Amino acid sequence: MMWIGSHAPSFLLPWSVTDTLRFSTHVELRAEGKATSPAAAARATGRSSSGQSRHVVRSNAANARSVGDTSTGGSVLAYGFAMEMRLMRPNEYGTVRKLCVSSFGDPSIGQLLDGLRASWAWDDALSFVACVAGELVGQALYTHAFLDTPSRLVDALVLSPVAVLPSRQRQGIGAALVKMSLEALSERPEPLVFVEGDSDYYQRLGFEQASGLGFEAPSARIPDSAFMAVRLPRYEQWMTGRLVYSDPFWRNDAVGPGRDG
Ligand SMILES: CC(C)(COP(=O)(O)OP(=O)(O)OC[C@H]1O[C@@H](n2cnc3c(N)ncnc32)[C@H](O)[C@@H]1OP(=O)(O)O)[C@@H](O)C(=O)NCCC(=O)NCCS
Repeated sequence: MMWIGSHAPSFLLPWSVTDTLRFSTHVELRAEGKATSPAAAARATGRSSSGQSRHVVRSNAANARSVGDTSTGGSVLAYGFAMEMRLMRPNEYGTVRKLCVSSFGDPSIGQLLDGLRASWAWDDALSFVACVAGELVGQALYTHAFLDTPSRLVDALVLSPVAVLPSRQRQGIGAALVKMSLEALSERPEPLVFVEGDSDYYQRLGFEQASGLGFEAPSARIPDSAFMAVRLPRYEQWMTGRLVYSDPFWRNDAVGPGRDG
């Protein structure tokens, strides 16, 4: 799996406004806390820019507040530009693939993406992109997986990969994309999202250590602290057990911190 931070492998593998994306979300990323956009002004009044109520997502990042509305719009105050989150369009796959390869600096991520896209695990409704000024700058991909519980298989989701264009990294885009997409997923039937990666980063985005919730990692190679989960509204307490990744993660040797990790 592709990780960041202290778990980063030396061998990196590892939501329609569709066009009318139901979950399309517009965020404003501003350097200082002066809100001037319609969405930001709406935030001050507790209404979305379209006048509807909204969800509020708070970021722990210093001087960043995010206000996301999964159906109408929202804003994140942080870095001085506007970002839109929407579902990837089918004809954007090549662009997203290139973006991921360049973010990770490793072509094998492209093979993993190809494998996932060709598999049962892929779902067009789970591939989110971030756009700034019309340019695709980030991706948060969720794919299908299983939770092998004592009583039956439960459908679950895996977040991987998350990627932001190198020139756009560390500007709040990755965090906004993950938080907004998780909000969008709250309407899905799957009860859980799992991720493998840097605990400091993902815990800030709402993930919890999975073992503490009764979940077993799909591989013993995944350190306990690196295996995390988000419980979605459909989660029920009896849902415990081992996460089962889809085939492409195994076939692309993209499980755990990497061969040299
Ligand atoms: C990881 C990634 C998706 C984060 O997106 P981003 O938009 O750059 O991150 P944000 O601006 O939302 O958050 C920044 C914080 O993330 C953490 N972070 C980002 N990149 C990091 C890295 N390479 N190593 C460690 N921490 C990192 C830091 O805590 C950083 O805060 P700081 O700048 O104050 O130190 C992006 O940097 C990326 O595409 N990296 C390459 C691919 C990758 O590793 N993907 C994640 C594994 S699936």
